[in-house]
Amino acid sequence: MREQLEKIKREALTAIQDAKDILNLEELENKLLGRKSGELTNLMKSLKDLGADMKKEMGQLANEVKTAIDGALSEKKQEIKKAEWVGALEKERADATQPTLPVKERGHLHPNTIVQNDLENLFTSMGFMVLDGPELESDYYNFEAVNIPKTHPARDMQDTFYIKNHGVNSDAPWVMRTHTSTMQVRAMQKYGAPLRMIVPGKCFRNEATDVRHEHTFYQMEGVVIDKGINFGHLKGVLEIVAKHLYGPETKVRLRPKYYPFVEPGVNGEVSCYLCKGAGCRLCKESGWLEIFGAGMIHPNVLKEGELDPKVYQGFAFGFGLIRLVMLKYGIEDARLQMSGDLRFLKQF
Ligand code: PHE
Repeated sequence: MREQLEKIKREALTAIQDAKDILNLEELENKLLGRKSGELTNLMKSLKDLGADMKKEMGQLANEVKTAIDGALSEKKQEIKKAEWVGALEKERADATQPTLPVKERGHLHPNTIVQNDLENLFTSMGFMVLDGPELESDYYNFEAVNIPKTHPARDMQDTFYIKNHGVNSDAPWVMRTHTSTMQVRAMQKYGAPLRMIVPGKCFRNEATDVRHEHTFYQMEGVVIDKGINFGHLKGVLEIVAKHLYGPETKVRLRPKYYPFVEPGVNGEVSCYLCKGAGCRLCKESGWLEIFGAGMIHPNVLKEGELDPKVYQGFAFGFGLIRLVMLKYGIEDARLQMSGDLRFLKQF
């Protein structure tokens, strides 16, 4: 019995010392001290079969062995826990002086951003400010301020997403802006005249999406206001943009088109850069690509912006960046751009 006890003690202490983790320890504890069939438990159970003297002596020894094992177990548990904790700290430690690993794959700009940056550079070189505006917009700036009153049929041209209970007046829902023209009156109110600005930004419409329409898209708006601004200035600026995008041979053609916030309003087209005007698949055999909406700013809009239409005149234009990107890279489906699909994005 004595030998058995000493053997258990010896073996148990080495095993505990060698344990790697808490699970190991729990397993050992169970093997030695488990209530049903722990090795030491079993031995202690068999004490009752010994004679009185032996029983006392061995009982004492067994208790000593048990205490030693218990102690070793809890000591080792502490040790393992502490090591895990230090290990976790070690892992989190960052060495600010360590050189970075070589970059495997570098990200790049979205094609839409490439075109936007390029145009921002062009316009700032001509003295335009680049402004940003809210995407969640009041009904006033999106529609009313740009001469689209509540019941006006022109509202049908731009259906959007209405956000209930946003503004102070819950009767007038706010909207996800349908165009960047929202910034026309905002900028006039803030900066007055003279004014030269562009607004690149995200717009939203309630569309049944198809290859040419997406519910979320990017536009760029441009506004110039000063004394004596006329239609020739508008055409000149659009020509600069068209030639910048499609080369020095490019021609611009303006045809009448209704937009509530300009008078006269035009549709700006550029000669097709692919067929040079002869007619092809890209321009649907017309020789022209529709790009801009534009016109002279309506007097009602200038008044809304607290400018006197008798003193100041201006022009405005707007175009879809997504369409420019499609033309530049020969992309056939407008929906790809916002898809986040890496197979698409990695091509640029
Ligand atoms: N806001 C118009 C649209 O989204 C484009 C436009 C801008 C037209 C400025 C004329 C002047 O369709």
